[in-house]
Amino acid sequence: MANVLTDSRLESIWLDEDEIRSRIDAMALEIKKDYDPSSGPIYMIGILKGACIFQTDLARALWRAGVAVRFGFITASTYQDGMKGEGEVERKVKIKSMTGSDPKGKNILLVDDVLDQGFTLAAVTKYFLNELGANSVKTGVFLKKELQNPSPEVLELRKSFQADYVGFTVPDRWVVGYGLDIAEEFRELPYVAIAREECFR
Ligand code: IMP
Ligand code: MG
Repeated sequence: MANVLTDSRLESIWLDEDEIRSRIDAMALEIKKDYDPSSGPIYMIGILKGACIFQTDLARALWRAGVAVRFGFITASTYQDGMKGEGEVERKVKIKSMTGSDPKGKNILLVDDVLDQGFTLAAVTKYFLNELGANSVKTGVFLKKELQNPSPEVLELRKSFQADYVGFTVPDRWVVGYGLDIAEEFRELPYVAIAREECFR
């Protein structure tokens, strides 16, 4: 059951539970290598809602690696209710309030489910540095999309802004599961599946 597709609107399983678990353990070790224990626990901020499952699994992997974390959350929405439209580029990132202790002067690890065009992570990083006064922001994403035909603007953003830690690279398709959704569906899947986009238009 665990790694079986149960919905015909999904095409295939791209990452199964075991692959995800072992990669997240490896990511925790990468983070640990760069981390200075004298600076205190890692202040991990998840971008809701997509990052929720990645954040909690990564936190437990960090615990197994001997690294303490503190949690914070921020809500940001980019693609409102569904998927991005075809050829759609520029978009506004709506940042809502942050929950957690004051990030001022702290070293933040910002985590998100997927780096697609890059607008969300870039906007939230800037928000922490410029508006909330964080000392530093590192970024970790569960997935990074291999973009097919990025606009020059997106290409530029992707070049100037790279995530520090990346779980997996995925093709330029809409993916769901492990926190990722289409109109709020599928977040609870334990694996990552590729959606049949035509079923959701
Ligand atoms: P970006 O701003 O284009 O990088 O978009 C990133 C945000 O869009 C992520 O935080 C996700 O919430 C959402 N997103 C992008 N691609 C997907 C996908 O394939 N599945 C689910 N959500 C996605
Ligand atoms: Mg998101």
